[in-house]
Amino acid sequence: MTVIDQKVSYFSISFGLVLIDKPLPYDLYINSSTHASREKFVCILRRDNALSSSELINFREKYYQLYIKEDQRDLYLRSLMVVDNAEDLEKATVIKDSAIKYLQTIFERDHEFSNELLDETIEGCKESVESMVDVIQDYDILDVQKLIADLSFHDFYTYDHSINVAMYSISIMKALKPEASRHELVMAGMGGLLHDLGKVKIPTSIINNPGKLSDDDFMIIKKHPGFGLELLNEHKCDHHEINFDIIKRVVGEHHENYNGTGYPNKLEGKEISVFARITAIADFYDAITTKRSYHEVLSTEDALEVMARSVGRKIDPKIFEVFRKNVNVILDGKSHQELPDDFDPCHPQNVLPLEKAAAKIQRSDFTKKDKLDFGKVKTDPKKKKAS
Ligand SMILES: [Fe+2]
Ligand SMILES: [Fe+2]
Repeated sequence: MTVIDQKVSYFSISFGLVLIDKPLPYDLYINSSTHASREKFVCILRRDNALSSSELINFREKYYQLYIKEDQRDLYLRSLMVVDNAEDLEKATVIKDSAIKYLQTIFERDHEFSNELLDETIEGCKESVESMVDVIQDYDILDVQKLIADLSFHDFYTYDHSINVAMYSISIMKALKPEASRHELVMAGMGGLLHDLGKVKIPTSIINNPGKLSDDDFMIIKKHPGFGLELLNEHKCDHHEINFDIIKRVVGEHHENYNGTGYPNKLEGKEISVFARITAIADFYDAITTKRSYHEVLSTEDALEVMARSVGRKIDPKIFEVFRKNVNVILDGKSHQELPDDFDPCHPQNVLPLEKAAAKIQRSDFTKKDKLDFGKVKTDPKKKKAS
């Protein structure tokens, strides 16, 4: 929860996620007001001071809630990684809340875009993705899937979906290239988090409508990769640790299909950025496996079978093969269903538009050359038996 007090914002934090016995990188506040409707924030510990566990227990007995100033959110996010005894789920909840806050800053329409706003938001998104990388860098796809299932969801599809796509993209990048640098993992996550940026220019009534869209609405939705690119080109964002070319390519190319039937530019195969091809697989998998309030989802086995039928058409065969090996599900094709090539994973759907399968499952094996491109394919030794 974020509380505004005389133009200074504070957000509440969990007692379990406060750093113990180390200098705090942020100031700690409490709300000392006795009126439920008013807030009066008082600093109880200045940054650089350390807090012992007995002092924290004392705080917990005395105060209902602890707060941090909004402008120190990034310091709090970074500190989470050194908090002992905190579960990944607790950390991921804070990371997700922060990512949603930053996405809200751009998706809420009560302001004009400015370089400053976009810069600040992208910087905040980067902090969130850095923390995501810290939590999930050793997760396989199924670990990420479980974490996503355990996180609570928001009622705005784009926020949840973008955060999930960021986490899957990091995990796919790591599977594809086990020696990927932290920067590459962060960029994969940033691409995922911002892939639907262009939707800020599309009416909420269209992007939040899980019903069947009219052809006109679908035409409008198809403009979002271009809108996203325009935004990034118009506003000169500059941050030395962020590769904006990668983000632009993911934003502009995540709806291109591997066989050249996608939009907006009908790019084909390797013409599509590898980051966008990773995002497309993350996008597809999240859309069909993450439980939403409005549609049922496919089991992991059925999801992989449906995706396998899109291989070479919608998605990259080699990246999918790495993905499938990481999930380690045998493709034995029980459901015999597929999704059309114009299936839009970025859009909420009441019913997944599954059709009786016409396409055969294509298999693709990694060759020596692919290994040079992507690194060694990572499989979990614990699961080797089932492959
Ligand atoms: Fe999209
Ligand atoms: Fe998407």
